[in-house]
Amino acid sequence: MREILEELERRREAARQGGGQGRIDAQHAKGKLTARERIGALLDEGSFEEWDVFVEHRCVDFDMAEKAVPGDGVVTGHGTINGRTVFVFSQDFTVLGGSLSEAHAGKICKVMDHAMRVGAPVIGLNDSGGARIQEGIDSLAGYAEVFQRNVLASGVIPQISMIMGPCAGGAVYSPAITDFVFMVRDTSYMYVTGPEVVKTVTHETVTHEELGGATTHSSRSGVADGAFDNDIDALLSLRRFIDFLPASNVDETPQREPIDPVDRSDPSLDTLVPDNPNKPYDMHELIIKVVDDGDFFELKPDFAGNILTGFGRMGGSTVGLVANQPMVLAGCLDIQSSVKAARFVRFCDAFSIPIVTFVDVPGFLPGTAQEYGGIIRHGAKLLYAYAECTVPKVTVITRKAYGGAYDVMASKHLRGDVNLAWPTAEIAVMGPKGAVEIIFRKDIGNDEKIAQRTEEYRQKFANPFVAGHRGFIDDVILPSETRTRICRSLSMLRNKQLENPWRKHGNIPL
Ligand code: HXC
Repeated sequence: MREILEELERRREAARQGGGQGRIDAQHAKGKLTARERIGALLDEGSFEEWDVFVEHRCVDFDMAEKAVPGDGVVTGHGTINGRTVFVFSQDFTVLGGSLSEAHAGKICKVMDHAMRVGAPVIGLNDSGGARIQEGIDSLAGYAEVFQRNVLASGVIPQISMIMGPCAGGAVYSPAITDFVFMVRDTSYMYVTGPEVVKTVTHETVTHEELGGATTHSSRSGVADGAFDNDIDALLSLRRFIDFLPASNVDETPQREPIDPVDRSDPSLDTLVPDNPNKPYDMHELIIKVVDDGDFFELKPDFAGNILTGFGRMGGSTVGLVANQPMVLAGCLDIQSSVKAARFVRFCDAFSIPIVTFVDVPGFLPGTAQEYGGIIRHGAKLLYAYAECTVPKVTVITRKAYGGAYDVMASKHLRGDVNLAWPTAEIAVMGPKGAVEIIFRKDIGNDEKIAQRTEEYRQKFANPFVAGHRGFIDDVILPSETRTRICRSLSMLRNKQLENPWRKHGNIPL
């Protein structure tokens, strides 16, 4: 018996050693943790149950028979984060560069299948040189097995990817399908083709970091939902993040005992909106002041800053927050912000997370770049997402709500449940100046008359009361009582029932 136990321990130790001390040291020298150290930092202490530690690849070509390492370059299993079950796979770059073999893919598929069965999130810690080149098509088949599962799990269990090293070629498409992609600055990159191929094909000279680093994807491409400074920062942030999410689409979000009183008023909000309607203010301030304990987990903070998206809690339960940001492009909707918010709204709807929308939007961004880029199609995504979703929707118009953008931003007409407005709200087809220049075009040049007409229009339409008369706004509220009013509305909506007509699936304009 003793020998058997020693053999077991020897095999486990071989798995723990991965690609050997030299490669572990190299990993550390790059500022990266190993696959197991990452799991240790992510999960509750002692909660990790590892599976398939003895799995090895079956390839014999290119001397691979001598290169079998127990676990085959990915550590998989389940554990808990703050007591809640999650499934995890963590690619081990020290073993053949974390490359994905048929066996490696099989391990990932196994945890995904179990996560679906029990209804728990899957977290992937990606650090891989891509397809195991020696295995050829078997590796490609392995990727496709993972992709298929990603798609079937979409909207059923939360899927989160943390990119902590290379992620290149077709391998990027598994993270791309997952709900959230985070990256670690300076040590991770994602691209479909690397700098060498780019140089050959397009003659562009670009570094790994410029092409697919965390800054690129969190600020330019919008592929990443966030970037963190190092592995520990990333993994601890992930622990905080997962606490906002339900375990599956039939589970409720974790309820926190609210320490922050739901009837807390904030008098400073009464002066948040400047007197001059063209002056910006920071919508973050409103969000931070209304959510529980000022705890807001912002997604894509450096991308499409004209709209803010992220999670907070109100009355102890998770809410998805969407807000126009007057500080960036005056809060206009454009291609990037529409797509950013649409995907977020759809995640919230899939996982029954109520949506709170703060509106200060002067309209869609004009220009050839937007039109040629397809703002019609992309703006329609946000419209579609809001119109399709059945979760509780509470909307607060703080200032401008003009034109089509008014309709899009969770208006009453798109089944907004509770639509509130601050006294500073201006709800109309367009701003007073633009409106007067169209309907009183013959007066252009007569500054006095134009000014008088503009003021007339402002008095008549640039307020919340016209919408209030029609019931498009349920109430005009004091800014200071925004938190209370939203919390009460969400509490009233807790058992909301609304179903869309049966269909195989809709056809969102992609
Ligand atoms: C097998 C691989 C590998 C791979 C790396 N290794 N990538 N083994 N298949 N894809 C091995 C290396 O041989 C090396 O082994 C060890 O991992 C570490 O790699 P290094 O090159 O020393 O590390 P580094 O300098 O940090 O460079 C990392 C890297 C580079 C940039 C990822 O390894 C690289 O370019 N690899 C190939 C990437 C690639 O072309 N992958 C296929 C993409 S196509 P030793 O024994 O020396 O330590 C693809 C298709 C997917 O993925 C399609 C899905 C649909």
